[in-house]
Amino acid sequence: MGTTTPKVIIHGGAGSSLQGKGGVEAVRRLLYGIVEQVYGCVMGGGTATEAVILGCRLLEDEPRFNAGTGSVLQSDGQIRMSAALMDGAAQRFSGTINGSRIKNPIEVAAFLQGQRDRVLSDVGTAELARELALPIHNPLTDLRLQEWLSDRKTDFQRRMASTIAEFGEEATAEPTADDPEAGRGTIGVVVLDGEGRIAAGTSTGGKGFERIGRVSDSAMPAGNYATEIAGVSCTGIGEDIIDECLAAKIVIRTGDGLPLAAAFEKSMAEAALRDRDLGAIGLDRRGAIAWGKCSEVLLAAYHTGDRLGDTLELPDGLQTGHA
Ligand code: GLY
Repeated sequence: MGTTTPKVIIHGGAGSSLQGKGGVEAVRRLLYGIVEQVYGCVMGGGTATEAVILGCRLLEDEPRFNAGTGSVLQSDGQIRMSAALMDGAAQRFSGTINGSRIKNPIEVAAFLQGQRDRVLSDVGTAELARELALPIHNPLTDLRLQEWLSDRKTDFQRRMASTIAEFGEEATAEPTADDPEAGRGTIGVVVLDGEGRIAAGTSTGGKGFERIGRVSDSAMPAGNYATEIAGVSCTGIGEDIIDECLAAKIVIRTGDGLPLAAAFEKSMAEAALRDRDLGAIGLDRRGAIAWGKCSEVLLAAYHTGDRLGDTLELPDGLQTGHA
């Protein structure tokens, strides 16, 4: 262990409600259990990158979150997952976009850290999974299948209504407002280790009901970014996060001298002005932890070294905070 006090912050998305996940106390227990395991990893000498991979794996394996097992289905009923890992000390990004039938997309992103080609799309991810002999895994859960079936019914009714109202014009297939994930589910982990190194990881099943080939923010620097100075992982509607270039913007503002909390406040206020639906978590090398959201809820929890905290009961709408 080095001289820095390790810090950890994780998120399980920015949904519209906690009810579908068992309520506040159940989500708090779940997130605290994972944040403690990640903290134990860095306290045991694990690097920031190792701890981020562990945290993302645990969150991907939890079916209540939209990443890995429990990912939402796309418009054609298939699950395609994306994940990214950024090693802040090396300032090196790697990721996988729209991979199928793998258990932990973050492990593909982790493998790619050491490769010449560091971001792979669907076909490349399938080839690599075969080369690495990753076991075939079906991430589908009953709940996600039921959500997709109900979305499909609503979408069909909406298309019919739209066709009747505007003959010849096709409606878009956005997720419905009453869908508990409604396009915002993602998981993310940001860690500062005992040597002062930062890493960030983000993983998602995507927006849900999106058209084939849609690319999520999670495997872009807009959704996951880290340098030696700060790291950020985002959640929310991918298109909103990309338009704000949110993770990179907060990290770069911090690198340019703005305190992390102020970088979050400025970036979130700008996003709120444009009516975005998103959230983000982050930390910096001085040990500051921060978060922000313009969504209804942000499912985040953190470990400061002497206490655990979370963002589960923040009021609806624009909120930022720090620890
Ligand atoms: N933020 C996850 C997505 O939109 O794909």
